[in-house]
Amino acid sequence: MAKAKTVYFCQECGYESSKWMGQCPGCRQWNTLVEEHIEKRPVSVEKQLAAVRPVSLPEIETKEEARFASGFPELDRVLGGGIVPGSLVLVGGDPGIGKSTLLLQVCRNLAEQRVDVLYISGEESLQQIKLRAQRVGQFSGSMRLLCETGLEVVSEVIRREKPQAVVIDSIQTMYSEAVTSSPGSVSQVREATAAFLQLAKGLGITIFIVGHVTKEGVVAGPRVLEHMVDTVLYFEGDRHAAYRILRGVKNRFGSTNEIGVFEMREEGLREVANPSEYMLNGKPEGASGSVVACSMEGTRPVLLEVQALVCRSNFGIPRRTAAGTDTNRVNLLMAVLEKRLNLRMGECDAYVNIAGGIRMSEPALDLGIVLALISSYKNRNIDEKTICFGEVGLSGEVRAVSMAQQRVQEAGKLGFTSCIVPKANLDALKPVAGVSLIGVANVMEAVQKIL
Ligand code: TYD
Ligand code: MG
Repeated sequence: MAKAKTVYFCQECGYESSKWMGQCPGCRQWNTLVEEHIEKRPVSVEKQLAAVRPVSLPEIETKEEARFASGFPELDRVLGGGIVPGSLVLVGGDPGIGKSTLLLQVCRNLAEQRVDVLYISGEESLQQIKLRAQRVGQFSGSMRLLCETGLEVVSEVIRREKPQAVVIDSIQTMYSEAVTSSPGSVSQVREATAAFLQLAKGLGITIFIVGHVTKEGVVAGPRVLEHMVDTVLYFEGDRHAAYRILRGVKNRFGSTNEIGVFEMREEGLREVANPSEYMLNGKPEGASGSVVACSMEGTRPVLLEVQALVCRSNFGIPRRTAAGTDTNRVNLLMAVLEKRLNLRMGECDAYVNIAGGIRMSEPALDLGIVLALISSYKNRNIDEKTICFGEVGLSGEVRAVSMAQQRVQEAGKLGFTSCIVPKANLDALKPVAGVSLIGVANVMEAVQKIL
């Protein structure tokens, strides 16, 4: 006779315990231990074995899954070419970043294409949603709303209505009667996600789940459910800057190398089709300490302005700050300048800023930071029609970077006339009309050529 056994599992780290505890000894998280019943039963596989057999890849028949467009080409690209029916998509991000707005607009676009959508909100009332909807535009009839937090009720409604797409806003508000812990706890969130996963796969409908990430850990972050869903998108950006970036973190139906750029407006989110143009908006003319660099966001080149301000330090310890990039990297590059170019950076305060409020930390940005610093130090401006990219090593050498061709093409597209590129990249580069390429082997050469 098999005996049932009760054990407690930590939902964060998997720690197993025979009794319940408030704090998990494994990962020190509170309230993460959940009761589970384990019962060992004798299993016979004889019957099942007849039905299963390993197959080779060519034997598997595939059909091209019919994706549908979300009405936002930026979102479609991040999803890998459109929305896949029957997929479960998690959209995570800090509170207030615009997740509800984005998904409401997706619902609007889908409803316009006569796709049957259901927006389930556990956070806002119908009136609140209507107010938001009025700001983002006209809605057609095939979108319906529901304010409900009971998981069983929501599941039943979805099963009866059979919409083609569902939005759950947010997963942390969903509450299952079957689980005793409070809404937003790890076990509630996992229970709800498992239920939606079953609905999505069983009925072939696409379900978008909104998940909040909080630093305090009061509400369970969507990290615990990342492995359960097909696609994980993060919506990020500085709350004070208008632009937002949608980034794929996991995608079973496409690459995670793509990003989508949006701008938060008075009337909701708008796509930014050309991020470089957007980032270079308002660049000062003829100012020292400013240079245009090129960084890759996924497979997309983004031109941005690197600004530096170097001035004499009035105190013993110079101040160094970097906004939008890594401070340690800036310190390192300044040390390289001090040693290899004999610039007395040690006596100076330095402030580096990536204009536009974007965060970039790609090594290819090094050359831009270095040239901006020198330009400000020498108080000489760099030609406005020049861009640069390249990784700077500790001996001041400029090293090759990946995807150089795309970067040069982007520069040509935006009307830049010369590119400072790593010499090692020069041979493989095809000429781009209107752009002259200047290969440099080290920082010294770069300074001689443009300053
Ligand atoms: P929201 O989508 O509710 O964020 P989340 O669901 O991620 O918590 O809203 C984000 C912010 O966007 C909110 O503070 C107000 C602002 N906003 C606009 O600037 N314009 C708009 O048209 C809308 C709807 C919101
Ligand atoms: Mg919201």
